[in-house]
Amino acid sequence: MSLNLAQLANEAGSDKGDAVFHAHDYARLYAFLFEQFREREFAMLEIGLKRGGLDESKLRGRVEQEAPSIAMWRKYFPRAKIWGFDISDFSAVKMEGFTFIQGDAGSAQSLTKLHDALPPLRLLIDDGSHASYHQQLTLAHLFNRVAPGGFFVIEDIHVFNPMDADLPKVPRTISLLEQFLRTGKLESAAISPEQARFIEANTAQVFIHRSDKGGVNYWAPKMAVLQRKG
Ligand SMILES: C[S@@+](CC[C@H](N)C(=O)[O-])C[C@H]1O[C@@H](n2cnc3c(N)ncnc32)[C@H](O)[C@@H]1O
Repeated sequence: MSLNLAQLANEAGSDKGDAVFHAHDYARLYAFLFEQFREREFAMLEIGLKRGGLDESKLRGRVEQEAPSIAMWRKYFPRAKIWGFDISDFSAVKMEGFTFIQGDAGSAQSLTKLHDALPPLRLLIDDGSHASYHQQLTLAHLFNRVAPGGFFVIEDIHVFNPMDADLPKVPRTISLLEQFLRTGKLESAAISPEQARFIEANTAQVFIHRSDKGGVNYWAPKMAVLQRKG
């Protein structure tokens, strides 16, 4: 039986639904894509587990007891093994089949450690800092952890995190992906030529979702789904 994912998001306090905080409404697309394997056994990862503002020094010292979107996924995917990654400490969050790894999506070393701890994933959702450099470093290091046919989702590619100004200069993620769609090429200082060739050769399709909330407003919520070739 299908479950209403937007409602689960709203109840859990995640803004992937249509009622809480930014109410991004991503759950509608997720249900459309993921319902087909909802009751299967598989592994997934979410990066970024609870809203906490943009101040990284505060996020680093934060200790959290709840992870809203993980609670949502736990209900929606009853048999999935779920990994969560965050710069804040969520080690107190205990849920059946949930494993937390603490780390920084702005550190290649941290992402390599995460990579090596993960099994092949059917689904990876990046809902971390939304800094373009972090999104692209994560894509570079973790795309090959997504199993053939699996999905790599980058949420909020429209966001400008002020932290980007102090990070290595890269294109905004929305521009990078629009160019990838046009040319088949990925060009970013966060992605090595070898990583770029791997992603280019192994991407079956890229979908850029522009929510109709906010109309043509450039700031309307946007996210991208890359599907790995099967
Ligand atoms: C938008 S919130 C996640 C919201 C959650 N997924 C939900 O739907 O309720 C962003 C998260 O990214 C985490 N984060 C911020 N910077 C990070 C970094 N450099 N590395 C890893 N996680 C980071 C924050 O601690 C925060 O938990």
